[in-house]
Order: sequence, then C-alpha cells, then structure tokens
Amino acid sequence: MAATTDIAPPPGVRPDWTIDQHWERYAPAEHDVWVTLYERQAALLPGRACDPFLRGLDALDLHRAGIPDFAQISEDLRRLTGWSVVAVPGLVPDEVFFDHLANRRFPAGQFIRRPDQLDYLQEPDVFHDVFGHVPMLTDPIFADYMQAYGEGGLRALGRGQLHQLARLYWYTVEFGLMHTPAGLRIYGAGIVSSRAESVFALDDPSPNRLGFNLERVMRTPYRIDDFQQVYFVVPSLRTLLDATLQDFGGLYARLAGADDLAIDAILPADHVVTRGTQAYAAQRALAGR
Ligand code: PHE
Ligand code: FE
Repeated sequence: MAATTDIAPPPGVRPDWTIDQHWERYAPAEHDVWVTLYERQAALLPGRACDPFLRGLDALDLHRAGIPDFAQISEDLRRLTGWSVVAVPGLVPDEVFFDHLANRRFPAGQFIRRPDQLDYLQEPDVFHDVFGHVPMLTDPIFADYMQAYGEGGLRALGRGQLHQLARLYWYTVEFGLMHTPAGLRIYGAGIVSSRAESVFALDDPSPNRLGFNLERVMRTPYRIDDFQQVYFVVPSLRTLLDATLQDFGGLYARLAGADDLAIDAILPADHVVTRGTQAYAAQRALAGR
C-alpha cells in the first residue's frame, strides 16, 4: 500500500520513486531470509491459497534460491499479463503508487526484513511485495483488477475519499478470501505472506467471514497492527472485477454521508460465512494492545 508523504523522492530515488534493485548487492544472509520465508509458506499454502496464487508462484519460478531478480520476473510477467515489477525504497506517496498500478507496474520494496522480523514487520519488504502480491498478477482477471484499482485510486484521491477506497484494497488485495468448490481459499497478499495469518484467516473461530459486498466493505475500518477481525469472501475474481468496473460516482456520493461500521459488526443484510467469536480480539484488547 501507499503512504501519504511528501511527493519529492529522497536523494538517489527517481522522480517516479523507483530505484535500481541492485540484485547483485544482496548479502547471502539476506537471500537466506527469503529462503526461510519461502520454504515456510510454500509448505503451508497448498490447500490454503487459491489456485491462481499457487499457479502464479510456479509460473514465476519464485524459487528457493533466494530473492528474485525483478528483471527476470518482469520478463515472465510481461509475457503473461503485461505487468512488471519495479523496485522502490519502501512506501511511496499514494498518487505515485496508483500511477504505477494504472500502468501495470507493481512497486515492490527492494529491502528484505531482518532475521528477527520473520513473523512481522510493518513496512512491506520484498518478501511481502513479491511473494505476496506478484503471483496473483499472473492471473488475467486479477491483473485487470489491479490496474483498474490504480485508476480508481487517482479518482478517489481527487474526491477526498481515498480512505474509503483503501478499505477495498485492504479487504481484497491484502486480506481477501474466496469461495472455491474445495472450500475457502486465500488470495490476499497480507495473508499469504504471513505464516500465522495463513492459518488464522481460514481456521480461527475468532474473526467474522462475510460475503463480499462493495459498499459494505468501503464502510468497514480495518486493523493494520494485528490479525483482521473480519474477512470478506468473494465468489470469484470475476465477480470482484465485475463489481468494481461500474462507475463509483454514485457510491462515493452515498459513502460521503454514511457512517463507518463497527469493525466486528454483522448486519442483517450480511451473508455470514462464519460468525466469529471475536475471542482473539477481545483477549488482545484485555492484554492492553
Ligand atoms: N470503477 C471505479 C471508479 O469508477 C474504479 C475502480 C476499479 C476502483 C477497480 C477499484 C477497483 O472509480
Ligand atoms: Fe501489500
């Protein structure tokens, strides 16, 4: 995701906020962090991640050898869906982020987390960005969705309603679940790149799991510091893309006057997949988090 900061890039960073990946400069210990994370997730995700993600992981040859070379994955991605991966120093300003997406470029953090941050770090690093996001970009429908989101982001920004559109990104691109004939599967990058949430999102009795509804999602706040209290389930990526292709003008007008919902609310109109106990969130609140 993107951060609202000064638009001028730091010294050494290009005007579009990209940098050279300098793949040859990663230290062996940095490649080892990738390998450790990769092996954990690759073992955990069959039967949890959706097929487009697992197929994308294979297609891109995001191998066990270490941090991927963006030039190489971009070559494969361009052939598959016309996307490429560009290196950025970390979070970039919203308009810069959206402009890259609208042009089918995915900005990925160049750095990798330290060995003592395997399970959590706040800023997206190369593992979250490349392992988490890039496999889905090999899917033609998801590829179109991400580009459309970039265009929509620029619009939302202009209307002062980015905080509402950002929830759509959060509850789909980062934390989305989908229905499949085999059961619930993960497609969100924030989940597939986290060992603990890959289990929690599907198996824990605490969170609500609700059928995806565009307007509902855009009224729902989210947590950036802990497991989600609610996940939204799409029937398919096609349904997600179709729901977002409509012009959001009327939706934004309604949302401008609408209150946010409670994060753990279940409304009469919700399609409840799982009614969560919220026990995890309650216990964390008690522990003073
Ligand atoms: N259709 C949206 C609009 O009119 C743009 C959008 C597409 C937003 C896909 C998010 C995802 O603003
Ligand atoms: Fe992300």
